[in-house]
Amino acid sequence: MQTTVGIFDSGVGGLTVAAAVHRLLPALPIRYIADTAFFPYGERPAEDVEARSHALTRRLIDEGCALVVVACNTASSAALELLRSQFTVPIVGMEPPLKPAAERTRSGRVAVLVTPGTARGERLARLRENYAGDAEVAVIPMPGLADLVEAGEVSGARIDAALREAIASLATAGAPPVDEIALGCTHYGFLRPALEALLGPGVEVLDAADAVARRVRHQLETFGHAVPAGASAVVHAAATGDASAFAVTIERLRAAGAALPPIEFAQPMLQEASA
Ligand code: DGL
Repeated sequence: MQTTVGIFDSGVGGLTVAAAVHRLLPALPIRYIADTAFFPYGERPAEDVEARSHALTRRLIDEGCALVVVACNTASSAALELLRSQFTVPIVGMEPPLKPAAERTRSGRVAVLVTPGTARGERLARLRENYAGDAEVAVIPMPGLADLVEAGEVSGARIDAALREAIASLATAGAPPVDEIALGCTHYGFLRPALEALLGPGVEVLDAADAVARRVRHQLETFGHAVPAGASAVVHAAATGDASAFAVTIERLRAAGAALPPIEFAQPMLQEASA
């Protein structure tokens, strides 16, 4: 059987990671689950996110995936250790690219934009402790921002207002400016153009999607899975909630110029009761 990789997120955010994996390994078949029935993870208790992460990982493995990507910072924060202890397939997680931000900053001040769930999690605290070095780190929780993206909104007044507020909160009188912003939620990857337009030159926006794609390739090789070559594969995507709302969001993202892989909707779409 051809090596297939499974990717899940609470919604469309993980498609930023699927796009990066597809760019790096175009012939690799990908199964994607958007847990839209339980979106947003970032506003839920960690135990709920952990339970959903377990269920979706189980499902992807049962469907034959050789590796699972938790393409969600919130789910990685809540469940990564547990998933790795419960399943034998390699599990690739996400974390905000705080380490490269701390390495690249010239001003010594960096920021990380995250969901409230990731902001509360121990994983981010550990990441700060171990990798931020001397950099001053501003953690900015962005409640509601992933919801806009999940509705297909990646620019415009509401997005700009949320991003402007975050940027304004970074300015500290007398302190040097923040010059590195780490995106700590996969949904925010779709907001990079809007954020860069508001920031202007001098501030770098970092996203972990490409690094995660390289990690996927490395883990497939390490675990002895042949990385397929040849014709471009598609991402088979399913949502646990309203299938047509999910498809509409993807259409909106495409129309807005978002970088998305080729997607085919898996039939039948998964249907699960809402939380
Ligand atoms: N995409 C998820 C992440 O990376 C968060 C979105 C949500 O709140 O469900 O954290």
